[in-house]
Amino acid sequence: MTRRMHLNLFFHSRGHHEASWRHPGTSPRALTDVDYYIDLARRAEAAKFDSIFLADQLALGGDVHQAARTWLEPVTVLAAIAVSTQRIGMIATASTTYTEPFNLARQFASIDHMSHGRAAWNIVTSWLATAAANFGGSGQVSHADRYARGEEFMTVVKALWDSWSPDAVLDDRATGEYARADRIRPINHRGDFYQVEGPLNMPRCPQGRPVLVQAGSSDTGRRFAARHAEAVFTAHMEKATAKEFYADLKALVQEEGRNPRQVLILPGLSPMIAGTEAEAQRLAREVNDLTDTEVGRKRLSNRFGGHDFSHLPLDVPLSPDDFPDPGSVQAARSRTEVIINYVRRENATLRQLLSYLAGARGHFTYAGTPEQVADLMVDWFEDGAADGFNVMPPLYPQMLDAFAAEVIPILQRRGYFRTEYEGTTLRDHYGLELPPSQYG
Ligand SMILES: Cc1cc2nc3c(=O)[nH]c(=O)nc-3n(C[C@H](O)[C@H](O)[C@H](O)COP(=O)(O)O)c2cc1C
Repeated sequence: MTRRMHLNLFFHSRGHHEASWRHPGTSPRALTDVDYYIDLARRAEAAKFDSIFLADQLALGGDVHQAARTWLEPVTVLAAIAVSTQRIGMIATASTTYTEPFNLARQFASIDHMSHGRAAWNIVTSWLATAAANFGGSGQVSHADRYARGEEFMTVVKALWDSWSPDAVLDDRATGEYARADRIRPINHRGDFYQVEGPLNMPRCPQGRPVLVQAGSSDTGRRFAARHAEAVFTAHMEKATAKEFYADLKALVQEEGRNPRQVLILPGLSPMIAGTEAEAQRLAREVNDLTDTEVGRKRLSNRFGGHDFSHLPLDVPLSPDDFPDPGSVQAARSRTEVIINYVRRENATLRQLLSYLAGARGHFTYAGTPEQVADLMVDWFEDGAADGFNVMPPLYPQMLDAFAAEVIPILQRRGYFRTEYEGTTLRDHYGLELPPSQYG
C-alpha cells in the first residue's frame, strides 16, 4: 500500500487567523458553546480526518479586550466530543509543569475509555510566563527545569497507565472476583519531583495509553519528542526548515532506539482556499485588513518572554539584533528562532512580520486553489518534510469546509488519503503499535 498522509484538524478560536473572530464569514457561535466544538469535530469526522486537536494556555491573554482568546478547558471538551462522534481521534493539551501526574493519567485514561480508544495527549511544559503566576506565584519555571520535570512526569504517567494488566478485570459475578490482584501493581515512584505510589484507580485503557503528541522544537524539546512522542506538531515558515526538522527528529528517534515510522511529523499548514489564486489572495488580504498591529506587537512580546518591542517603527526593515538571543528566552524557544530566521531571510519590516504572524502565528500559510494546496501537501509529503499535516483553517468553518470539499477529494483521488476509516482507534488511524504491557 502507498504511504498515506495523516491529517489533524487544529481547533482555534473562529479560525487560525488572528482576526478570524471579526470576519463576517466565521461562525456566529460563542467560543464557550460546546456545540461549536462538537460541530467542527463532526465536520472533520465526515471528511475522515485522523484527529482533532485543542491547544491550551494556563493564563488569560492580556489582549482579550481586542482579541477573541477564550476557550473551554480542552480535556472537558474531549469528553463531549467523545460521546458526539464515533471514529475520529481527539487530542487535548495538558501541562507537565502545572498538573499532577496522577490527575492527568486518570483524566486521559477516562477519555480513552469514553471514546473507545481515540484519546491523545499533547504534552506541553507551558512556555507562557504568565501561567506561572496562576500556580503558586513562584515565578516562571526555566526551560531546562520544565523539561527535567516533564521527563520524570512521563516516567510516572507511563507507569500508571501500565499498572493494570489488560486482563486484570474479571467482573465475574458467579465467583465474586472483580479483578485479579496479581495483575494490578503499585508503581512506588520516588523521584526528585514526584512521589507516587499508584496503581491507577482505573483499568488499563483501550489504547494501552493515550497517543502521545508533542511539539517541542528546541534541542531539549526534540530530544524529549524523540523519547516520548508518537506524533509531533511543528511550525515552519518554509519547506527547507521543515525538511531539516523532519530529518533531525527521525534521526534522534532512531538514536533513542525507536522506530522512526512510529513517530509522525505533522507541520502546521494554514490554507486560504478559493477557485482562483487571485481570489484566495484577495480573501487573505480581506482578513489581514482586520488585524490590529498593537495586538500583534503584544503577542510578539509574549513569544519573547515579555521583551519590549514598543519602540520599533512599523515600516523599517527589522534586524535580528532587534530581538533577544533565543538562547536566553525561557518561553517557546524554537518559535523565536523561526521568527528571527524569517526576519533575516525576508528583510521584513515589523508590519510585515506582524501580518505574517497574524496568519497562523508562525505556521506555514498559503493562499491558492484546491489543486495548488493539494500539490503543496504532496510535495512536502514526498520530499521528506512531513508525514501529514496539522491543518489550521484561517476561518472556521468556511475554510474547513473548503478544505474538506475541495482539497481532500484531490488527495483521495491521488491515493494519498483514506476514503473510509479502516480502524476504530486513533492508533489505527495513525498506524501506531499498542504499547507493550509490563505483564507481557
Ligand atoms: C502546533 C503546536 C501546538 C502547540 N500547542 C501548545 C499548547 O497548547 N500549549 C502550550 O503551552 N504550548 C503549545 N505549543 C508549544 C510547544 O509545546 C513548545 O513549547 C514550543 O513548540 C517550543 O518548543 P521548545 O519548548 O522545545 O522550545 C505548541 C506548539 C505547536 C507547534
